[in-house]
Amino acid sequence: MRIDIITALPTLLESPFSDSILQRAIKKGIVEVHLHNLRDYGIGKHKQIDDYQFGGGAGMVMMIAPIEQCITELKAARKYDEVIYMTPDGDRFDQRAANALSLCQNIIILCGHYKGVDQRVRDLFITKEISIGDYVLSGGELAAAVVSDAVIRLLPGVLNNETSALTDSFQDNLLAPPVYTRPADYKGHKVPDVLTGGNFADIDAWREEQAWQRTKDRRPDLLP
Ligand code: ADE
Repeated sequence: MRIDIITALPTLLESPFSDSILQRAIKKGIVEVHLHNLRDYGIGKHKQIDDYQFGGGAGMVMMIAPIEQCITELKAARKYDEVIYMTPDGDRFDQRAANALSLCQNIIILCGHYKGVDQRVRDLFITKEISIGDYVLSGGELAAAVVSDAVIRLLPGVLNNETSALTDSFQDNLLAPPVYTRPADYKGHKVPDVLTGGNFADIDAWREEQAWQRTKDRRPDLLP
């Protein structure tokens, strides 16, 4: 899979891809992540990428021309499954959306800033608009990192058996059950007996029951 991220602040996105699981996925060649500095496509000697909004009002709007140039350049090199715009008024991101995106070959993610992008960018180039929740971030970069992380960890070969995404919360519409590690007794706070008993059928049944109970208590909306 290849992810091209268009951003006015590429340094904000460097660290999420330079550590841990995402870094390993890149090193293994399972995913390529390319950051594109919108400023490189800016207009004039000041490399302008934003301007005042027509009709007045506070806040700058990202201009169409630099974005079009960057997207056109990318599209000339390969075919993209989706051109995504990160925005708080987009479709709410969830595990199902992550699963669907993980099947894509190439995607572009455009990060908004200031008051967002000229509406004509959305009308002409964007195929999918994604929000990571009902709150407003300073820009789309952190949201793009969230989406990329959720998608990349699903790609075959990124996680090993022990960390398999199949046991994640939400993967079967249930929250994950509680987990414990050593010591089995911490200052009198004990690990449930079933987990140390060695009966794997009992352990599976306990985990299933706990996942169901936790979902019922915390997220009853996920249950059928
Ligand atoms: N940009 C600003 N806020 C955002 C959000 N909640 N989701 C996606 N992109 C955003």
